[in-house]
Amino acid sequence: MSSASYALNLWYQAGWSEELAVGGSLARTIAEIPVLFFRRSDDSLSALLDRCPHRFAPLSKGCVENDVVQCGYHGLVFDHEGQCVENPYGPVLKSMRVPAYPVVERHDAIWVWLGDAAMADPADIRDLSFIDDTPETAKFRGYLHSKANYQLLNDNILDLYHTGYLHADSIGGLFPETVMAAEETDDRVKVSWTSENVPSNATFRARGGASDRMDQRVEVIWSKPGVMTLDATEVAAGATVNFEDHIVALHSMTPETPTTSHYFYCATRRYDMDNAGMTELIRSLATKAFVDEDKPMLEAQQQRVGEADFWELKPLLLPIDKAAVLARRKLEKLIAAEDGGR
Ligand code: FES
Ligand SMILES: [Fe+2]
Repeated sequence: MSSASYALNLWYQAGWSEELAVGGSLARTIAEIPVLFFRRSDDSLSALLDRCPHRFAPLSKGCVENDVVQCGYHGLVFDHEGQCVENPYGPVLKSMRVPAYPVVERHDAIWVWLGDAAMADPADIRDLSFIDDTPETAKFRGYLHSKANYQLLNDNILDLYHTGYLHADSIGGLFPETVMAAEETDDRVKVSWTSENVPSNATFRARGGASDRMDQRVEVIWSKPGVMTLDATEVAAGATVNFEDHIVALHSMTPETPTTSHYFYCATRRYDMDNAGMTELIRSLATKAFVDEDKPMLEAQQQRVGEADFWELKPLLLPIDKAAVLARRKLEKLIAAEDGGR
């Protein structure tokens, strides 16, 4: 598999809804396809290829106004479906159009379909209703641009043993004796890590956990292309785990180019839900881990990989890699089924 191939018949997370105000626009490249998103006056979204069909200027260098976009180079105007509606130099023809993509908002996020539009079914967007069910005071969303392939970002969440080393001084991590279990279904990979009676960590203490020993369980469920829910509980050793004990997060990876990605995350919690200060505390711990620890490591990995194919470098596979390898295999199958992507 070339790292430059992508499955296109699936929903890619393109952003967070809050990134687009009415009248606003957002240019984002996904799977090497430049897309211009804009929000119309009725609050609905449009997604157009960000390349004028005339001389290929980025439409994002033009202006979005009154629900249409005007190219900044010679002034052609396109509507929300990509149809040219104004041509300063002559008649408007049906054939003067720019491709438009299905785009849907769900779970505070924007999802785009870049493949065969006839196959785009919003019902295929992963159910992330835990995000909708959480009040703003108990969740935070974030976006990181990463100079690493999205599959390295997937690997990072599907292998949480790295936390014991990379995040030992921030959020704390798993211990080598943590028990991992990984399994796959048709379209999912599920992996969990369970530790009992281990020293408590910073997130447990931040929540007010008084015990110096805790039981910890983390479960990640992956679906294509890199939509991962992470459900974590940390309770005093021996205590019962209740509904309120769960922190449930989304880690969603979208390819930009073979060596760059969009990383969207959203963390929700079920305890102390009115406490915006607690949200800020968790946000700062998590952001430090993602920005100061994961991001530099992933980008340094990509530097070493360069443009090479991951498998051709013959990675040394360890038992801890099982879930990451299962997810990679599923993506490879999808890409092969679409005839090698583009
Ligand atoms: S390149 Fe857009 S109008 Fe010429
Ligand atoms: Fe990490």
